[in-house]
Amino acid sequence: MRIKNIAILTSGGDAPGMNASIRAVVRTSMAKDITVIGFMRGYNGLIHDTHIALQRFSVSNIIQRGGTILGTARSAEFETEKGMAQAFKTMKKNKIDALIVIGGEGTMTGADRFSKKYRIKVIGLPGTIDNDLFGTDFTIGFDTAVNNAVHAVDQIRDTASSLERLFFIEVMGRYSGHIGLAVGLSGGAEDVLIPETPTDIKALAASLNNNIKKGKKSNIIIVSEGDEAGNALEIANKIKKILKEEYRVAVLGYIQRGGSPTANDRILASKLGYHAVMGLLKGKSRYMVGEINKKIVFTPLKETYTKKKKIDISDYNLIHTLAQ
Ligand code: F6P
Repeated sequence: MRIKNIAILTSGGDAPGMNASIRAVVRTSMAKDITVIGFMRGYNGLIHDTHIALQRFSVSNIIQRGGTILGTARSAEFETEKGMAQAFKTMKKNKIDALIVIGGEGTMTGADRFSKKYRIKVIGLPGTIDNDLFGTDFTIGFDTAVNNAVHAVDQIRDTASSLERLFFIEVMGRYSGHIGLAVGLSGGAEDVLIPETPTDIKALAASLNNNIKKGKKSNIIIVSEGDEAGNALEIANKIKKILKEEYRVAVLGYIQRGGSPTANDRILASKLGYHAVMGLLKGKSRYMVGEINKKIVFTPLKETYTKKKKIDISDYNLIHTLAQ
């Protein structure tokens, strides 16, 4: 059956570059005589049939904008049988031949279940700042989030070295340390605490003590929000009990997720948006399209959320070597 109508939605936490992928999907579809509609607020829009037509000019002037013009949500309703059945009705009512979803792990899980149950053609695009999806080297939004965070770390380094202070900076990443690792390496951190590696508070205190004795003017510890030893404030308090050193804590929070996407994110989003449509036209379904070693790769949706993407342990070791 020829694909004539595609629907697209963004789901989960927004990520800079989502708009660039919506644009790429719409413009690629136009070139192939396919019409596109966009569901609003993630899977909730699919359940309640809240959509807009996406035409050529609907996606003008959005490649540089953060967030998502379609809105997004973490839909609990879509996890229910009733919600999914309602979503299927919307698909039929609007004569949609295929669905493209942009989001993270939860989004891929929902798309896989929906597609399996109702035999719907689906392609996923990796859109999350966390970079924790198996099947792609980078997710859309990760590069921007890292750049936002490292910019903040650089600014904090100015005050940290002027006052010779110890800083704990918390970055996002509930279950993964990809952001923490990239920010730690590019920000020249003294240490980085991430969920994938054990955190030894005593060893950290000893190494900070050593740094202070050596005459290091600033000490910056990057803490992933999902670290096993607690959040940045909790870890700082534990260190204080051993080291008796004055400290400051900065939680970067949502500034990481906002703002104009970097060129890298726009390029990735554009390529993946294009290949999502082309993949559907070639008969692919229930895959996520990603990029590995600069090559476009289609990974079964199920693998994207059941397999864990590993952190690069050599980056972790490098941070420690360079922080001496
Ligand atoms: O998944 C992206 C992310 O920004 C995580 O890094 C963070 O833990 C979470 O979303 C925050 O979720 P919410 O936007 O629901 O507060």
